[in-house]
Amino acid sequence: MDNNSRENFGSKLGAVLAAAGSAVGLGNIWRFPIETGQNGGAAFIIVYVGCVLLLGIPIMMSEFIIGRHTHTNTAGAFRKLSPGTQWKWVGRLGVLSGFVILSYYSVVAGWTAEYTTLAIANFFDGKTASDFPTIFADFVSNPWKSLLWMMAFMVVTHVIVIRGVKSGIEKFSKVMMPALFIILILLAICSVMLPGASQGLEFLLKPDFSKITGATVLSAMGQAFFSLSLGLGCLCTYASYFGNDTNIGKTALNVSIIDTFVAIMSGFIIFPAVFNAGYTLSSEDIGPSLLFITMPNVFQQAFGSIPVLSYLVSVLFYFLLVVAALTSTISMHEVVTAYVSEEFAMTRRKAATIVTLACSTVGVFCALSFGPLDGFKLFGMTLFDLFDYVSSNIFLPVGGMFIALFVGWYLDKKMVRNEMTNNGSLRAPYMRLVIFILRYVAPVAIGIILINQLGLVKLF
Ligand code: PHE
Repeated sequence: MDNNSRENFGSKLGAVLAAAGSAVGLGNIWRFPIETGQNGGAAFIIVYVGCVLLLGIPIMMSEFIIGRHTHTNTAGAFRKLSPGTQWKWVGRLGVLSGFVILSYYSVVAGWTAEYTTLAIANFFDGKTASDFPTIFADFVSNPWKSLLWMMAFMVVTHVIVIRGVKSGIEKFSKVMMPALFIILILLAICSVMLPGASQGLEFLLKPDFSKITGATVLSAMGQAFFSLSLGLGCLCTYASYFGNDTNIGKTALNVSIIDTFVAIMSGFIIFPAVFNAGYTLSSEDIGPSLLFITMPNVFQQAFGSIPVLSYLVSVLFYFLLVVAALTSTISMHEVVTAYVSEEFAMTRRKAATIVTLACSTVGVFCALSFGPLDGFKLFGMTLFDLFDYVSSNIFLPVGGMFIALFVGWYLDKKMVRNEMTNNGSLRAPYMRLVIFILRYVAPVAIGIILINQLGLVKLF
């Protein structure tokens, strides 16, 4: 496809909101509170923020540099910057990661849609703590319901993606991201005002540094990658639609601040309410089922004395999850669609259709992992668990490490400087520090997580 006919985001704000939309997702509202709960609260948050600043922002800047300089999909970008070399595989791995994550992520996204409809129908009213595990287990093991919701999510994602960059992705993000912030703040205020909230606040704000272990640091790094959508060229693809006046350093900083803010606010929604409802932080309450078993019960208990409030809080909470998940599925879909459309010279619509059909097909098997296929295991894991494990523990860190090495060592520093300064019109005093991190700190740190997570050498 000719670069001149390629669309760009219409404004700098649109670009920031679209990239923030990709970053803000189930990773912030579902995975972050779980990780925080399991890793000791405030101390984990401090390490997490350290990882975002030290690794997240420099790698995000790298993805922006690669994408904006080449104005093409992630696989094409590596080929264009390093013709005839094997670097193209980094881009291809990214496309594969986007495909794999989208296939299983849309299953969980489908659950959030089901729970939104349950909340709207006031189904949670009058239910007690012992009802919610059964409700969830019945739902996920019912193949038709979860398949339908997964497909519905994929179709909505598809419709937004085929509308294009400006009138699809950007427009949707510009409306939905502010809506998401408003809901988030409203819910946090409700939660913080609950009796007994102080225990939750203390958990989030008072660090106990004795809780920091090697495992805490590793979890924080993995969470930072997943949450910031790093390592698969997702933000590289979005940056290929950035205008020439977009400030790469400032955009990376803004997106990271928004993403971290949403994660911490989710903690402020969840923990005061969880403590108020008398839960302890046992792994059963703060595990993957947190949002679907613990939270509906928390809403009943915490706000149950004012039924309208418990109704509104539940509806808004699940709607918030749907919106956050959707802006992320759009970005994963876009990585693969841009690749198929540009590398195989197809229209956007045709490419998106192929991607939707292929991801839905794989998604069916992921969704069925909770029902008829729960006995089908590869490497001891169901397909859903395998995809989750392989993509976030292997593909994203490997991708991130190679992106850091590519920009830190391979790319011409003059070109990197030109991208960071918009050809000399901005100042980028942080450039040397960023390059130092990309060359040494990021590859070594990520290397350590990988070696450890794969169990090759048990360091911690
Ligand atoms: N960052 C998204 C979230 O927090 C997930 C995601 C990962 C999106 C990778 C795109 C690419 O939910």
